[in-house]
Amino acid sequence: MPGLTGEEIAKHNTKESCWVIVHGKAYDVTDFLPEHPGGQKIILKYAGKDASKEFDPIHPSDTLDKYLPQNKHLGQVDLATIIQDEPESKPVDEVEIARLDRVQHIPPLSSVYNLLDFEDIARQTMPNTAWAYYSSGADDEITLRENHAAFHRIWFRPRVLVDVSHVDLTATLLGTRSSVPFYITATALGKLGNPEGEVVLTRAGYKENVIQMIPTLASCSFDEIVDARQGDQVQWLQLYVNKNRDITEKIVRHAEERGCKALWITVDAPQLGRREKDMRSKYDAEAAQVQDDESTVDRSQGAARAISSFIDPALSWKDIPWFQSITKMPIVLKGVQTAEDAIKAVEHGVDAILLSNHGGRQLEFARSAIEVLVEVMDALTAHGYQHKIEVYIDGGVRRATDIIKALCLGAKGVGIGRPFLYAMSTYGEPGVVRAIQLLKDELEMNLRLIGATRISDLNRSFVDVTNLSAHATTTPKDHLSNQAYDRLVTPKFLKSKL
Ligand code: LAC
Repeated sequence: MPGLTGEEIAKHNTKESCWVIVHGKAYDVTDFLPEHPGGQKIILKYAGKDASKEFDPIHPSDTLDKYLPQNKHLGQVDLATIIQDEPESKPVDEVEIARLDRVQHIPPLSSVYNLLDFEDIARQTMPNTAWAYYSSGADDEITLRENHAAFHRIWFRPRVLVDVSHVDLTATLLGTRSSVPFYITATALGKLGNPEGEVVLTRAGYKENVIQMIPTLASCSFDEIVDARQGDQVQWLQLYVNKNRDITEKIVRHAEERGCKALWITVDAPQLGRREKDMRSKYDAEAAQVQDDESTVDRSQGAARAISSFIDPALSWKDIPWFQSITKMPIVLKGVQTAEDAIKAVEHGVDAILLSNHGGRQLEFARSAIEVLVEVMDALTAHGYQHKIEVYIDGGVRRATDIIKALCLGAKGVGIGRPFLYAMSTYGEPGVVRAIQLLKDELEMNLRLIGATRISDLNRSFVDVTNLSAHATTTPKDHLSNQAYDRLVTPKFLKSKL
């Protein structure tokens, strides 16, 4: 069966009739254009052509089956008849040449000693749009940086003469044993950083016995990520709640059937924040191709906005009983930021809360989770609720001492996102494995040094938080983080014709 010819498909290259090829099959997406979460423009750029390369990092492989009616699936394409576009002749870009050179000369993995090393290498080697999407934060990225800096306002009160010959790092997170008190948290669009996407994290998680939270907005399909699971590996699901509750219900039930052990509902993102690095990198990439006609430039909102238009801003406390009625998985509210909401969460019977500001990507000037943790644990204790709910935190965690500080202050576990993406983007699975091992080494040593032999030994008496909520104190200069941090930039002038 030879299939449709490239010539035939190429005729359907307008808004009125728009066909595209994805992985050797043709699709009629004309009616879908207005609904495409990423806007029409990007599809129209590939009208009548092969869109696979653009499609892959953003869409799980089952997207077309799920969202495009079967009668729009036009069938196989006779690949021999497709005339490949000439590669776009981009102006010689010295910055890109230098980046590709660095990619050929990445430092050996054995010379990477901590998570910030991974970040700095990723900054210098990842394609700009991918780096910009992963690394960006809201507005001026003050919260993004505060997340990390806040840990520097906590100091230890170690105990001596404790027998620390044996140190046990294991933890129980939402009823599951884990080799460590941290987990790989959900982060979107894994294929921007690594062509294999989130399954790389799954495999590394298995090797090191670390729980993985599967993101709604993964590049791999949910089933691909679950299929990559091995042995008795544990996965959780992070959920963005769709305006269409039937879709949400289907996702939740399917996750439970496929063995996910907890449901983490994101509650801090009724609308995704403005991440200007992400927006600017997308703008630069588009602008590079249409420099002559400024009016046709899609002033893109960046990857984040493009993928998130389905999220329901009407989600509210009233929906919690409904979630509880459709699943037996423990329910976690991901993104709580005050004592008031922590108390409400207990009163709504949820199993856990994650104190988080979404990696500094949502509300600018949201406080760090580690700061909020103190307020929340105090309030829970005052209400006698401290054993009624598990509390997790994420954001800015780069060192095992950060994790230990959180555990001392009452967190059950800590989520880590970007560092694993950076490790995966440059070094693939061995990078993620090493990142986890480095944290384990740091954890073991630092537990010894503060005089604790297991996680349950930790409590508030091990830390001094006097300065934690004082936002005006100076913190020690953090050279690694400052070097890894990619400064925001202002708009570029157009190239002068002089
Ligand atoms: C983010 C989403 C998608 O970009 O979680 O923050």
